[in-house]
Amino acid sequence: MDLPNIRKKPSYDAILSALQALQVQPNSWIRLSDGEKSPASDQAVVQRFLMSIIASDLEWLQESPGFDGDVLAAQEQRETLFDLASRRIAERCGRSAMPEMTRTWIVPASADLPEIRFDIREPPLTGDNLGLKTWGTSYVIAKKLENFGKQCLDHLFTKLISASASSSSRSLHPERKVLELGAGTGLVGVAAGALWGADVYLTDLVDIADNLLFNIEKNAVTVKQFGGNISSGVLDWREPDKAQEAMSCKRFDIILAADPLYDNEHPALLANVLHKFLKEDGESRALVAIPMRDNTTKALAKKLSILMIENDFLADSFGEEICQDDWEPSNGPEVNIQWTFWKRMPLRS
Ligand SMILES: C[S@@+](CC[C@H](N)C(=O)[O-])C[C@H]1O[C@@H](n2cnc3c(N)ncnc32)[C@H](O)[C@@H]1O
Repeated sequence: MDLPNIRKKPSYDAILSALQALQVQPNSWIRLSDGEKSPASDQAVVQRFLMSIIASDLEWLQESPGFDGDVLAAQEQRETLFDLASRRIAERCGRSAMPEMTRTWIVPASADLPEIRFDIREPPLTGDNLGLKTWGTSYVIAKKLENFGKQCLDHLFTKLISASASSSSRSLHPERKVLELGAGTGLVGVAAGALWGADVYLTDLVDIADNLLFNIEKNAVTVKQFGGNISSGVLDWREPDKAQEAMSCKRFDIILAADPLYDNEHPALLANVLHKFLKEDGESRALVAIPMRDNTTKALAKKLSILMIENDFLADSFGEEICQDDWEPSNGPEVNIQWTFWKRMPLRS
């Protein structure tokens, strides 16, 4: 199927028809045989098309007559298209028939720590609220947090010698503060609270706040058992001053951002927020993990790197992981995640 190219500013009707044609029927209604399923390459094209709508402001749409003869305002057209694109994305997450779900994530099984289970609620996706779903990147990063603590953040941790045994454990010093940006359903921040025994403040847009708070309350006891503390609030990257004024802690030792880029504005907004909220010392670190879904995300990631360097940040350590992005119930496309720990450049004397 030929999908309209959003860069060429297609009409409302053209985008609407494509979105209607892309509707995924629940399995119970239509069962496609393997031969009828669309190949992975087509799925990637569809995924890119849907993300390009969400990332666009569709500013070329103008008031026009609808099918029933009524005049359709440009803003109404945009809302209809954003809503449909989000639904098509949700359907490809295999969740279209589920009004709400709670998934249990197990993080990690290591020599130092037992398996920890986190229950994370995901409401149905509405509008363009991508933060109501737990994305593949956040699970990969949550599983790596313990290693990150040992390898990339070791200088921020205190070694604790257990009184009863000869074993030693490690914990983030209680005064160290962690901030998560674009936390979504909260998996990464909640896991950081437990795995690092840290005080973590998870933030996102106002529309995501209620579900995020629900997940904080659901997992608070687990996090406390490991010596951590979690809380949440609204931090819109477009209004960082407003959020900062209301926060008791203004600057953080560690900032976490998993899968934060899908809009042209995001690299500049994120670079600014990292600059504003990361402590101004050589020890603080900002972890940004970006799934390289397509050329658009790669371009956004590159733009962020350039802006970070312009803001006097250095990539302290970086690496790659493969993740299942979870766009399909099974066999979703594999995505390469690039993670970077940024630190502030030492002041030149
Ligand atoms: C793709 S989701 C990733 C969510 C979560 N980190 C995860 O990996 O599951 C991107 C997140 O960025 C948030 N976001 C987008 N624009 C934002 C803004 N201007 N201010 C704060 N958060 C924003 C979204 O609400 C969403 O939660």
